[in-house]
Amino acid sequence: MAIEGKDEIHSGRIRLGMVGGGSGAFIGGVHRMASRLDDHFTFVAGALSSTPEKALASGKELGLDPERTYGSYEEMAEKEAAREDGIEVVAIVTPNHMHFEPAKAFLEKGIHVICDKPVTSNLADAKALKAIADKANALFILTHNYTGYPMIRQARAMIANGDLGDIRLIHAEYPQDWLTEPAEREGSKQAEWRTDPKRSGAGGAIGDIGTHALNLALFASGAELESLSADLDTFVEGRQLDDNAHIMLRFKEKNGVRPKGMLWASQVAPGFENGLQLKICGTKGGIQWMQENPNYLWFTPFGEPKRLLSRNGADALEAATRVSRIPAGHPEGYLEGFANLYCEAARAIRAFRDGKTPEDVVYPTIEDGVIGLAFIEACVASSNADGKWIRLDV
Ligand SMILES: NC(=O)c1ccc[n+]([C@@H]2O[C@H](COP(=O)([O-])OP(=O)(O)OC[C@H]3O[C@@H](n4cnc5c(N)ncnc54)[C@H](O)[C@@H]3O)[C@@H](O)[C@H]2O)c1
Repeated sequence: MAIEGKDEIHSGRIRLGMVGGGSGAFIGGVHRMASRLDDHFTFVAGALSSTPEKALASGKELGLDPERTYGSYEEMAEKEAAREDGIEVVAIVTPNHMHFEPAKAFLEKGIHVICDKPVTSNLADAKALKAIADKANALFILTHNYTGYPMIRQARAMIANGDLGDIRLIHAEYPQDWLTEPAEREGSKQAEWRTDPKRSGAGGAIGDIGTHALNLALFASGAELESLSADLDTFVEGRQLDDNAHIMLRFKEKNGVRPKGMLWASQVAPGFENGLQLKICGTKGGIQWMQENPNYLWFTPFGEPKRLLSRNGADALEAATRVSRIPAGHPEGYLEGFANLYCEAARAIRAFRDGKTPEDVVYPTIEDGVIGLAFIEACVASSNADGKWIRLDV
């Protein structure tokens, strides 16, 4: 039944398409799960792989309508834009060098874009995409998905409320171990493109996970990165990109305090799987959060005992409860956090349908994407100059 003032096609679930995410791919499947968790989206079209044959086979595997399983993103953008029931949003989940052109094609057709990180494979493209997104009649959402965790929202709200005082120290680390050996020469598709500068860009670990750690640190602390000094290493022989990075950070002054920090990103750290961790300290207190135990946040008001805050527990702030689904003690994890970005996207897209901008929507944008690429390029420039301090070019 039609809703007054709207037709059926625009009143129901949001129609989602996907570029990438074909058979054997990693993050495309996560996006599909995240998009369905809260019933806001329906997955109706895809250009799922790098060749038309693989794309068609992947569409069949996922039960997509063959008419809406496309051999290329160009064909998909063209044909979906022409359909009355065409997709309203596309998820771009291809390797980094294959974000810019599809994002441009869909934005120019007025189709919203949910793009994975890093937003492009170089800073010039990121800036060009920002110019396109700024002009487009469509939204751009970047899946720095760790910003969706309720306890990160809690930390962010506490810092904004002044519970930590003025921020002095911002430390982020993201150690992994899966590239300790040359997996790229042992048949791992994910390792192959991530260690190839043509597809990954100038950053290895700094691009793949360093950008996540930086984005999270900036998101939670509200700080702005000014400059950095980086020491990048490639420990695995023959690898073309960094697999470990130690980076010192200087942030812009706020309330007379200039925060300092450090970032460690590594993919050659045995014993660490997805050890993303954040420590932020101010004049009145500090917080600590670990991605592998995401329902908890340590908070220490200076001079008092440490407190372990839990998701949906006592002291939970509205910023965190609005992205929590179930009571405290029932764990929510990676998929729910990812799905929170899809919920934010859904709120924004539904408001967009009605010509409105919702006030309470929080998600990373193309601006965050530009910062990520500026970070990568500054790290490479600094490390090549033996750790020289480099200002971020944003
Ligand atoms: N947010 C996160 O936590 C997270 C995690 C993993 C990966 N990522 C990002 O997601 C992206 C994909 O990573 P992945 O690990 O899933 O890679 P992957 O290699 O597993 O999958 C990439 C997919 O893209 C397809 N593809 C390549 N070129 C294409 C084209 N021209 N048209 C259509 N499809 C094409 C491949 O066939 C494959 O299906 C990368 O940008 C990566 O940085 C983000």
